[in-house]
Amino acid sequence: MSGYPPEMQESIRLVEATRLRRLKETFPTMSLEEREQVLNAFHPDYIKEKMRAIRVGVSKGQRMPVELADIVEGRPHIGPDFDLSEPFAETDVLVIGGGGAGASAALLAQENGAKVILVTKLRFGDANTMMAQGGIQAADRPNDSPAIHYLDVMGGGHFTNVPELVEALVMDAPFVIKWLEDLGMMFDKEPDGTMVERHGGGTSRMRMHSARDYSGAEIMRTLRDEVRNREEDITVIEFSPAVELVLDDKGQIAGAVVMNLETGVYSYIKAKAVILATGGGGRLHYQGFPTTNHYGATADGVVMAYRVGAPLGYLESMQYHPTGAAFPEQIVGLLVTEKVRGLGAQPVNKYGEQFVYPLEPRDVEAAAFIRECKERGNGIITPTGQPGVWLDSPMIEIIQGPGTIKKNLPAMVRQFGRFGIDITQEPMLVYPTLHYQNGGVRLRADGSTEIPGLFIAGEVSGGVHGHNRLMGNSLLEITVFGRRSGRSAAAYAQQVKPGKPTLAHIEAWNRELEEAGVDTGVISPILLPDYTRRV
Ligand code: FUM
Repeated sequence: MSGYPPEMQESIRLVEATRLRRLKETFPTMSLEEREQVLNAFHPDYIKEKMRAIRVGVSKGQRMPVELADIVEGRPHIGPDFDLSEPFAETDVLVIGGGGAGASAALLAQENGAKVILVTKLRFGDANTMMAQGGIQAADRPNDSPAIHYLDVMGGGHFTNVPELVEALVMDAPFVIKWLEDLGMMFDKEPDGTMVERHGGGTSRMRMHSARDYSGAEIMRTLRDEVRNREEDITVIEFSPAVELVLDDKGQIAGAVVMNLETGVYSYIKAKAVILATGGGGRLHYQGFPTTNHYGATADGVVMAYRVGAPLGYLESMQYHPTGAAFPEQIVGLLVTEKVRGLGAQPVNKYGEQFVYPLEPRDVEAAAFIRECKERGNGIITPTGQPGVWLDSPMIEIIQGPGTIKKNLPAMVRQFGRFGIDITQEPMLVYPTLHYQNGGVRLRADGSTEIPGLFIAGEVSGGVHGHNRLMGNSLLEITVFGRRSGRSAAAYAQQVKPGKPTLAHIEAWNRELEEAGVDTGVISPILLPDYTRRV
């Protein structure tokens, strides 16, 4: 029995009826002009009234979603007179964030001689890394090269990426795959022992390495185990989000104030260097979009770094993953990995017609889905009013043979199977979902920022992906720049001459808000989404 209501099943019959014809068709990719048109008209980033410029700070004028601007312009949790005289703990390197970037950074900082404390808002591993599905890119085959990977990344980002950051990303990639495998990651392998590698949207070579469709969970398991193996030098403190960075009287980083999530008590952790690896802001639900992101993704790092004067960039650009689940209601917004399209599933409208090449760059693909529903009226509307288009997964087994779906997409099979939808027999209903923050705090290739002693890694940063990230480059980014920032922070901590810790920047920030007449009524970072029930 199908998990879809009868009116949706009627449309599924049309999808089934067009399968053999679609098998013979190759839907063309869009020209650059067509891509620009669909982006301008339908991508959420291009809706002017949903974005605004921030009015204070070093990147005054930077446009970003209004929801993000309100928290970036928020007031701190603590005042400038908060007592820093008796730190709760002291370390060489403080890592803020317990996802893949934070774990990679902690490992490399430790290997390079630093004592490390890693604080994380929720549990260690409660992060977008854990939820990443499709894979990690690296050019490690004879028909590929970091130079070709570089061109793909630049093209995907509309050539707006920072070239040195892309160079770092693609050059370190093959090494990072080896590093992960040496640490114990179980990559998918061909019978001859070589890596399984596939296409993602916008890639000109097959270079997506995976662990089924839970690649991020496998990376996180590997990194977290390794951090725990080194507990003598790396202390992990859970349920302790950072709320404010601390500078010294020379303008260098001197640690952070963290909050005990259970008691609400704030404490100072003194550090010679800080690595921010706090992830993105999907839980801000820009323009009401659902999200693939984990519960703690509230853009905390952007808020904290900006308040101490670190410039921001590219925040006018968010990534809406084309295929978020759109039915049933319980899983709306959850990721349906791009790998489903990589394996042969086609997006089709309610008449069973293809309307877009399956693997356009993500922003273009997402905009095309929105156009199909909003302008052309060819989407399916669920009983709760959610629009969507079909992602015709049974095509995978028609093309690649029976058993392909269960073997490659076990998490997808389970996600839909729980609701009576067998994705080997029936398509999935999908619609764009807020997935990734392309911009953030401006990053340098060695993981540093403009603030001495402040390093960053992962989604909190901006510049690597320009205005559009390609699939598989975020699991790569967290490991490449996690490693680079860890190494750089340890080296910095060895030579820095710390000054006297102070929160004078808070006084300056509050004054600037007042002088600009800015009061968004928000205390930030907000730490958890506003629909959280706190008892
Ligand atoms: O579709 C996906 O599996 C997502 C991958 C990514 O964002 O890199």
